[in-house]
Amino acid sequence: MEPTFHTIIEPFRIHSVEPLRLTTRAQRVSAIEEAGFNLFNLHSNDVLIDLLTDSGTGAMSRDQWAAIQHGDESYAGSPSWFRFEAAVKDLFPFAHVIPTHQGRAAEKILFSVLGGPGKSIPNNTHFDTTRANVEASGATALDMVIAEGRDASAPHPFKGNIDLEALENFLAEHSDEVPVVMLTITNNSGGGQPVSLANIRGASEICHRYAIPLFLDACRFAENAWFIHEREEGQGHREVADIVREIASLADGMTMSAKKDPFGNIGGWLALNDDALAEACRNVLILTEGFPTYGGLAGRDLEALAQGLSEAVSPDYLRYRIGSTAYLGDALDAAGVPVVKPIGGHAVYLDARALLPQVPPLEYPGLSLAVALYVMGGVRTCEIGSVMFGRQSDGTEVPAAMELVRLAIPRRTYTQSHIDYVIEVVTAVARDAASLRGYAMVYEPPALRHFTARCEPLEGTGARA
Ligand code: F0G
Repeated sequence: MEPTFHTIIEPFRIHSVEPLRLTTRAQRVSAIEEAGFNLFNLHSNDVLIDLLTDSGTGAMSRDQWAAIQHGDESYAGSPSWFRFEAAVKDLFPFAHVIPTHQGRAAEKILFSVLGGPGKSIPNNTHFDTTRANVEASGATALDMVIAEGRDASAPHPFKGNIDLEALENFLAEHSDEVPVVMLTITNNSGGGQPVSLANIRGASEICHRYAIPLFLDACRFAENAWFIHEREEGQGHREVADIVREIASLADGMTMSAKKDPFGNIGGWLALNDDALAEACRNVLILTEGFPTYGGLAGRDLEALAQGLSEAVSPDYLRYRIGSTAYLGDALDAAGVPVVKPIGGHAVYLDARALLPQVPPLEYPGLSLAVALYVMGGVRTCEIGSVMFGRQSDGTEVPAAMELVRLAIPRRTYTQSHIDYVIEVVTAVARDAASLRGYAMVYEPPALRHFTARCEPLEGTGARA
């Protein structure tokens, strides 16, 4: 019998290290003031544990660095391209693969071809760049996640599921307006929650009945497949890669940010079956990204991604990855910190609305909490609430469905002791959460305002409380 132990061990050891810079509280207070209380404006040297995003921040493996040495930088037809294309098609056997420099470039290309005024594009929940690219084309972005997916504490194993009834009802009346239906796996903006295979099958059946293509926003496909493997009846015996292939077979295409599960520091792609659509997309690619055999990437990037894709579906890695995220979330939950449950794949989401009831949504409780976490322990997180989603396309401001603070875990980057430190910092801030104050936004750009907005604390200094 295989002995079992409870310690989560990283299924890798450290090969090359990067120093972290320790700062004082006074340094952090002055850094965040200078940043206009926007964590995106910080210098990352002033951050100790950077949980702003899991995007492009993962550690590459020895084998990825080795693959980089094979990078062939030929403008056209490089062997690195063919290795990349084969690795993508091994998991996602779509007829056409179009390489882009990151996920939003794939979105921009797809929606500039398929979107436009009068069109509507349903999704379980559009990620911010997806929504912005849909809206930039003049189309309307519709979120149709199941009701449990909007409730931070509803227990449901697949809270990322799209509401099939709502989708069916919408298509029954408006199918002529819908050029594509998207499904985001895992559902990042809804708490990193997975979508079940049954739900993907259901969405595929409905879309195809209305002759509408189904596309995956598949950044975290491996984590989603792991949840299916662990949680969905009848899936536990399957290999993760097989589950991924079935998911791909149910869709007509995908947009991808390779900065997530495939362990890229940069990269993405658009893949699809339809020849005419692929041609139209490639024409945009050539205008905006590059020649179709490298898109927005260097040959060395293509090599790193081809190798990373094979590592992304390793069960030892995924068990550790999802286990480590759950360890963080469960510890915070046990300490009484309100978190989105069940714990998602790439991140733990704090429920700022529950933790800071004294701060109204349009005074940004998520931002207030995120600033406090930075000031307390140099931990950088990301608000996913009314700062990110409150501004409507007509210019009005409406509270977001949830006020979350995301602790996104970069892949293979931090150790379990870093995670223990984060637990201490969050718990300390939560203990004193009643003293935190709201913020006013004093500058915002017309779109994607969370990246560059500047804020000021209301009623004194919440950040220093
Ligand atoms: N779709 C989802 C679900 C994402 O999470 C992201 C990026 C994108 C698309 C866009 O990809 O950044 O390569 O252009 N999410 C990052 C995050 C930025 O922090 O969650 P990109």
